[in-house]
Amino acid sequence: MQATASILPLSKLEPGVDVLFYSPDEKRAQRLSARLRELARVHWEDSRRFSPERWEQQHDGRQLVLLDYASDSAVASTELARQLVALSPGLPLFGVGSTAAGDASGVLAALRAGVLDFIDMDAGDEEIRGLLEHALHAPASPRAQPPSPAPRRQGQLVLLLGVRPGVGCSTLAAHLGALAMPPAPKPAPADATPPALLLDLGQPAGDAELYLGVAGDFHYADALRNAGRIDATLLRSALSRHGASRLAVLSQGAQATLPPPDAIETGLLIERLREHVDLLLCDLGGLPTRLVPAALLRAADEIWLVVDQGIAAVVSLDACLRELGQAGAHDRRLGLVVNRHDDDCGLGPEQIAKRFDLPLLATLPDRPRPLRASANQGLLLHQAAPRDPYIRALAPLRARLRTGAPGDAVAMPAWKRLFRARP
Ligand SMILES: Nc1ncnc2c1ncn2[C@@H]1O[C@H](COP(=O)(O)OP(=O)(O)OP(=O)(O)O)[C@@H](O)[C@H]1O
Ligand SMILES: [Mg+2]
Repeated sequence: MQATASILPLSKLEPGVDVLFYSPDEKRAQRLSARLRELARVHWEDSRRFSPERWEQQHDGRQLVLLDYASDSAVASTELARQLVALSPGLPLFGVGSTAAGDASGVLAALRAGVLDFIDMDAGDEEIRGLLEHALHAPASPRAQPPSPAPRRQGQLVLLLGVRPGVGCSTLAAHLGALAMPPAPKPAPADATPPALLLDLGQPAGDAELYLGVAGDFHYADALRNAGRIDATLLRSALSRHGASRLAVLSQGAQATLPPPDAIETGLLIERLREHVDLLLCDLGGLPTRLVPAALLRAADEIWLVVDQGIAAVVSLDACLRELGQAGAHDRRLGLVVNRHDDDCGLGPEQIAKRFDLPLLATLPDRPRPLRASANQGLLLHQAAPRDPYIRALAPLRARLRTGAPGDAVAMPAWKRLFRARP
């Protein structure tokens, strides 16, 4: 194949999209061409021969420019992206790669290089078609925020707000998130986005991630930076997943400093995430209320305040409610979860709820040994002891979550249950 030669007939394309694919590998260009057969005309450009003069000749302003983000090309493509943007400021660039093997490094490298979007060779035709069509109408600036293709819905947003460090918020978030996941269909569809996502913003950072035994290299700050590009491909490939439940996790990363609570991108990020997941569960344990992103407080469907029976937690609850009032979030969305409950000591859960005029959503028993024992095996408690009182006490909380998991009978629409009942 000649570099820059059109490698497929044009007959099927109405009106047709021309794409210029920069790659060092002609075979990869042929594969891309075959993959986009119904969708676009692919012109291969050997990236090793790139020069500014050649670029001036090649580019007529109408083609989409695609960069090869296979693992052996990512570094060179990032350098090429830098040159292209210097030569043609505002040029929308697209990464191309595969996420079939669960490897998100190409997507991440491309996003960090500032591409507008990423074409996943393993996505379905509809998804790629949507992306290309949308790309054709892309604004000239790579920093502009295009709408993502085919949003699904607005998922439920539930905040778990520990009123002080150590009340058990991350433990609760990890268990609830995993239990909210519906059983995976076998085989799982390749293009399935996660039904539930745990946003791990608690302090110290990364506890929920730790309890779930996941470690990702795409973090909250990356997601904020790329908020406008959040789509099914990104969620499917960049987020880390809990092994047993497949719960997706987006965490701050242990070293990261939390972006300012009024960061403008937070609202957009939350909106995008909710378009693609049924449930966005957010661990805010240990985070002072004034540092909770305002957009999260505004957008939340429910805000669950996690306390224990200690006098210190009750004092913190009082302060937390005042801060929520100042943020305009002291309203009917609030509910109380009393953790580490022991009948014989401390204030009674009903007493606390009544004192602060909050609905008591759940009382979770004090279960230090079983929780520690399962954690030491790298398991969540329900994996080791599904009938443990702590797990059973989660039932009223699980029933409030909407993901179509078995405990979700209250919230799931009847038609969905019918479909789930089919073989
Ligand atoms: N119901 C419970 N019974 C006994 N121990 C619990 C319970 N819930 C949590 N714990 C334990 O309390 C400790 C702190 O829990 P966790 O990390 O979930 O709290 P947190 O509110 O997220 O704390 P931090 O503010 O430090 O992030 C852990 O050792 C955990 O196992
Ligand atoms: Mg925590």
